[in-house]
Amino acid sequence: MSDERYSFVVVSNRLPVDRVVDEAGNASWKQSPGGLVTALEPVMRAADGAWVGWAGQADVDLEPFDNAGIRIVPVPLSESDLELYYEGFSNDTLWPLYHDVIAQPSYHREWWDRYVQVNRRFADAVARISDDAATVWVQDYQLQLVPAMLRERRPDLLIGFFNHIPFPAYGIFSQLPWRTQIVDGLLGADVVGFQRVADAGNFSRAVRRLKGYATKTPYIDVPGVDGGASRRVIARAFPISIDTRSFEELAARPDVQERAAQIRHDLGNPKTILLGVDRLDYTKGIGHRLKAYGELLEDGRLSVEDVTLVQVATPSRERVESYRQLRDEIELTVGRINGDFGTISHQAISYLHHGFPREEMAALYVAADVMLVTALRDGMNLVAKEYVAARADEDGVLILSEFTGASDELRAALLVNPHDIDGVKDAILRAIEMPRQERRKRMRSLRKKVAENDVNHWSDTFLATLDGSRARIGWGGAEPLDALEWTIERPPRS
Ligand code: ADP
Ligand code: F6P
Repeated sequence: MSDERYSFVVVSNRLPVDRVVDEAGNASWKQSPGGLVTALEPVMRAADGAWVGWAGQADVDLEPFDNAGIRIVPVPLSESDLELYYEGFSNDTLWPLYHDVIAQPSYHREWWDRYVQVNRRFADAVARISDDAATVWVQDYQLQLVPAMLRERRPDLLIGFFNHIPFPAYGIFSQLPWRTQIVDGLLGADVVGFQRVADAGNFSRAVRRLKGYATKTPYIDVPGVDGGASRRVIARAFPISIDTRSFEELAARPDVQERAAQIRHDLGNPKTILLGVDRLDYTKGIGHRLKAYGELLEDGRLSVEDVTLVQVATPSRERVESYRQLRDEIELTVGRINGDFGTISHQAISYLHHGFPREEMAALYVAADVMLVTALRDGMNLVAKEYVAARADEDGVLILSEFTGASDELRAALLVNPHDIDGVKDAILRAIEMPRQERRKRMRSLRKKVAENDVNHWSDTFLATLDGSRARIGWGGAEPLDALEWTIERPPRS
């Protein structure tokens, strides 16, 4: 076992690369999809630290290694860990619960027990490789117990946590049989970060209701154990973003621009290309989008000669039943729409169920006249920001669900309620018909936002806030505050 130690450690369930083994048994690494990796990869490439996480394959125990300038420290997960901790508790309990119960969460005690065990394994791995007084940044809902577990093992560490997905309102969160343990786990951090102001508010409220601790935005006062000094935790929003400049540069490359023109040509030179890019996940509202588009074709308000939809549906969590069902539903709908409205020369929908290199994603954004982001609930949605970054020509229209974190910043998009199918249909028509001048004005405003808040701004703000709490640790704990100033709710009687 290696005895490497680092002063900066990021830990997430998924690493930036997944290990894949081909039929001949040769192993290689491929980039893993998802917003967490998109955001953290540039941060880690620029930092001097280590990234701890699972290598994407069951039952392999790997030594630390370097990948594209990032030190990777793998944590092994067994086949049964994947079933109980990852597919079970993370993606069939927490994921639907935290996304406003769009799908029904399942509660199983053995899933919870394994979630605790695996979180402990991650905490042990981080505790082992962290230098004295190191900064540790724990990521996302799969690892919510790690902050408190780490604090117990290594009180010298500075611990941050960032939740990439929404944090639900108390009425929903309170369904979780292990709600108090989750809150205790998160309160082990010095700074708990969320995507939206509303998420941070939901968390503070859960703390008041479940623990009775005093809070005053953005602070939470956590009493010391056995009369020890109390700690002041910060809970606030840090909206995540992308590496705007490098995405812009990628999209501006001549080969990417040429590829975009080729895509338009290969699609039969339609007047309008609509684009959707999503992990195949029920939170993304892909079905709502297809319904709106299918109805526009049926009503005769759009024709496949003029308009085509490219839908990238990235494979995700394919062994979880709700994801399997979703894939069947979406593919049935795509087949129906193509069968009903397609012609020999023009398809209604080009459906792509696989991963792409970043160059191809950028070319798709450059080619698309209208980008459709119709998520029913989404922590942020980085695809929306990537589309904006790719449009240096100040053209293209973004249709954006108001239930995404991105809609807090990207107000110049055409904002829609994806449940309102007529509203989505109107927005699609409005986008297609929008005059160039209005497109330019909106895109300029969107681009300003994405340039101002890029991923460096996100990580710098988070880490500076975390560093600020190091100074407070030096005071020997938080000073007691005037109770009247604080919002206090008593925990429910049990
Ligand atoms: P989530 O984190 O829920 O997947 P986001 O929209 O925040 O959603 O981030 C998705 C990220 O994954 C984006 O950076 C997007 O470019 C990338 N991505 C999605 N689908 C693919 C794909 N098929 N191939 C390559 N990258 C993809
Ligand atoms: O951004 C939310 C998120 O769940 C990340 O935690 C994750 O990396 C990504 O989406 C993709 O999901 P998964 O890691 O389960 O494939």
